[in-house]
Amino acid sequence: MISIIGTGRVGTAAALVALLRGLDDKIVLVDIVPGLAQGEALDLAHAASTLGVDIEIVGSEDFSVIRGSSIVLVTAGKPRKPGMTREQLLADNAAIVADIASKIKQYAPDSIVLMTTNPLDAMVYVMYKKLGFPRERVIGFSGVLDSARLAYYASRKLKVSPSSITPIVIGMHGEAMYPVPRLSTVGGIPLTQLLSPSEIEDVVRETVQAGATVTKLRGYSSNYAPGAGLVLMAEAIKRDSKRMFIASVYLDGEYGVSDVVAEIPVILGRRGVERILELPLNDEEKQGFLKSVEAVRALINALPEEYRK
Ligand code: 2OP
Repeated sequence: MISIIGTGRVGTAAALVALLRGLDDKIVLVDIVPGLAQGEALDLAHAASTLGVDIEIVGSEDFSVIRGSSIVLVTAGKPRKPGMTREQLLADNAAIVADIASKIKQYAPDSIVLMTTNPLDAMVYVMYKKLGFPRERVIGFSGVLDSARLAYYASRKLKVSPSSITPIVIGMHGEAMYPVPRLSTVGGIPLTQLLSPSEIEDVVRETVQAGATVTKLRGYSSNYAPGAGLVLMAEAIKRDSKRMFIASVYLDGEYGVSDVVAEIPVILGRRGVERILELPLNDEEKQGFLKSVEAVRALINALPEEYRK
């Protein structure tokens, strides 16, 4: 059983992708807005009936329905509006995340929690502190999104499928994210050998701005790509596939940093984060990564004290 908390655009996109990919035979939706999760669940159940997919989908305002979930996807929180930065969401969403943490602790204490709430890395930090779960079970999804975006923009220049590109974007999910073109490869060949410096500059810029570009064009932030990324990570955990993802995790000495959350490559399996991979960054890349991590730390330090412990 998989639970999705928050049935806005990201939560419902995740539910639909989960249904289409047969992620589980039961999906539970929770939202505090009266009737919303029930209505979404009903429409999704009708979609399943149309497609001939055997699945149970239920919706509720009451968190107790998540009891017994192996994985909880947290998509609740205020989304970005056009022109708004992820950071502006900080205090409002920290309160929402802390409240959800208390419910997960109560009803699904053995679950693995995947987060999308922005500003992502700081919200993973709040969730980790408030849940008290081992860090392996509190994971932010957005490295999947940032790296998929890098693969997409690079693919257009290279005329190579995004699936043939291994994209590396680390650090913060935000303007300070750190794409690493030298370690992003096609068949082992670094992008720095396949593209000119100005093409790389374009790819990096487009990747960093991708979320804001979507938001500006359509007036609300991304949901299909986050929904897809979340479900892919949940699949790897459920099937114990040991697949590599870039994800946001609490760092405890890796890359020489501690007590902060950042996007880095990890192996996902049944226990959540089963391994943290340390990239062979050169000095310049190390500095770039650390600068990005400091941007996360600044956000964490800006959190009201109650959400930092
Ligand atoms: C994005 O990057 C809103 O953070 C989300 O699209």
